[in-house]
Order: sequence, then C-alpha cells, then structure tokens
Amino acid sequence: MSKPESVSIKVPATTANLGAGFDCIGVALSLYNQFHFSPTDSPTKMTVKGFGAKSISLGEDNLLYRAFSQLYKRIGKKVPPVEITVKMNVPPARGLGSSATAIVGGLLAANHFASYPLSPQQLLDLAIEIEGHPDNVAPAMLGGCILCVGEKSERHFVPIECHDSICFVVAIPDFELSTSQARAVLPKSLSYQQAVFNIAHLGLLIKALETGKPEWLKEALKDKLHQPYRQSLIRGYERVSKAVAAAGGYGMVISGAGPTLLALCHPSQVSAVMEAMETAWSKEGVKAVVKCLQVDREGAQMTVS
Ligand code: HSE
Repeated sequence: MSKPESVSIKVPATTANLGAGFDCIGVALSLYNQFHFSPTDSPTKMTVKGFGAKSISLGEDNLLYRAFSQLYKRIGKKVPPVEITVKMNVPPARGLGSSATAIVGGLLAANHFASYPLSPQQLLDLAIEIEGHPDNVAPAMLGGCILCVGEKSERHFVPIECHDSICFVVAIPDFELSTSQARAVLPKSLSYQQAVFNIAHLGLLIKALETGKPEWLKEALKDKLHQPYRQSLIRGYERVSKAVAAAGGYGMVISGAGPTLLALCHPSQVSAVMEAMETAWSKEGVKAVVKCLQVDREGAQMTVS
C-alpha cells in the first residue's frame, strides 16, 4: 500500500490595521511559519522549533491543532491522528499575525486531508470565526494587502495595491503583548469626530498605498481608534516614533495589536530608519530585532508530498 501523503504549508506573517484601518486592513509580509502534517497510526504528536517555540503549548489547546480539529467538527467527522512539525519564524504575541498563521495552517491541512469539503470562502469565514477579526487571517490566506468588508456570508476581501516604493520596516521588541490585553484598553464607544477622522484617513491610506505619494502616506498613517489607547502598553513608543520621523520615514504605526512597531519609508531611507528604531528602543532598555520585509503576494502555500 502506498504511504499516505503529507502536506507542508507555508503561511506569511501579517501586519494588521496600518493605523486607521483598525480590524479591517492587513498586509502579508515576507516572514513565514512552516507547518508539516503527516497522517499517522500513532496518537497525534507535535514538535515545534524556532522563534518562541518554548512558549507554545503542545496540548489540545494548541491553536494550530484547534483549527485543524475545528474543521473536522464543522463537517461532523472524527479528527484523524497526525504528526505535526512546526518551524516558527514569526514571533508569537508580537503583533505579526503568528496566531493567524496557525489558524490558516491548521484549516488548510484539515481541508486537504478531509478531501476539500470547504470552499476557500468558507475556510476564510471559519478562520475569522476562530480568530475573532479578519485583518490577519485574510492576508495570511490570500497574500498582499487586503481590505476586509462586511459581515458573515456577505464578506468582501478587496485587494489593495501597495506601491513598489513603499518599504515595510518592523521593529520586534523582546517583550510580548497579548491581543486580548491590547483590546482590553480600548474604549467601549467613540465620538463622531474620531469616527470621521478614521474614515477619511482610511480612504487616504488606500490611495497612499496605491500611489506611494509621500505627503499622503505621512498623513494617512494617523489613527484615533486604537493607537492612542495602546501606546502606553508599549514602552518607548514615543521615542521610536520620533526617531522614525527624524530618519525620514513616512510614519510609524503599531503592527496589529503590538508591541511590534512598523515604519513605512522610501527604499532610500531603509537603513536610516532601521538604525533609528533599534537605537531609540535600546535607549529605553528594549532590545529589538529590526527587519525590512517585502509584501508577500502569494499568501499561504501548500505542497503535497
Ligand atoms: N485588528 C486586531 C487588533 C489585530 O488590532 O486588535 C490583532 O492582531
């Protein structure tokens, strides 16, 4: 009898919100988690290697395994035993969509082993249901910059162009911040003024991303819905933000729920911005890994062997 096939899935990191696009826009970036699933006759087993591997639960509460099981639950089938190997490059609890990589990886693997019962749209709906917001799982699955609009069964995932002259520099600090903690500081309601500010800035952001126009990008990265409330959770935010501006960057935002900070800049400013972010954070006693990432345009990729 032939050996049952295994699948390897590569899922990109994502940066959500981009300032004014709270909970509705995200970009896939060129940093990847890799998941390998092999059917087995033994009980399910998981091995995790790489960045932050030690903090990952290997039990049934593991998010990758929960997503895998959730798909079988949805189709009313028993979850088969699998041997799972994870290679992590996307650091967990840093605002770079590590949870979304696990959800997307688990769902794609389960959908393959179950012979594709769910359509791509149904997979995304289930991923959003598990994550609670769409702006990481959608770009992780589809690649590129995605605007997520609408409610279940009426959702639109709209690709937004990102001009080639826009560079994404992430500074990943040596401390974690959970999304639940970063959501807990948000107010229960907002004023019309704040809502109008963000509507206008999200509109501008989309045009600024498409055109790469510096003066639009500088304005477009401002936000009044979440960043003012979350800044205090990120030691050194103010100093790093000023350093990005002084180094000639267009601006800086909190990547997702943080604590990673994301600067957008022209290719000619990349080195200066990277150095400025690292230095500013080290003056606050924070060690940061700084990377210049590309937009990933492919999204999650699966290979069957
Ligand atoms: N939009 C979500 C938030 C992203 O900001 O809470 C979390 O990664």
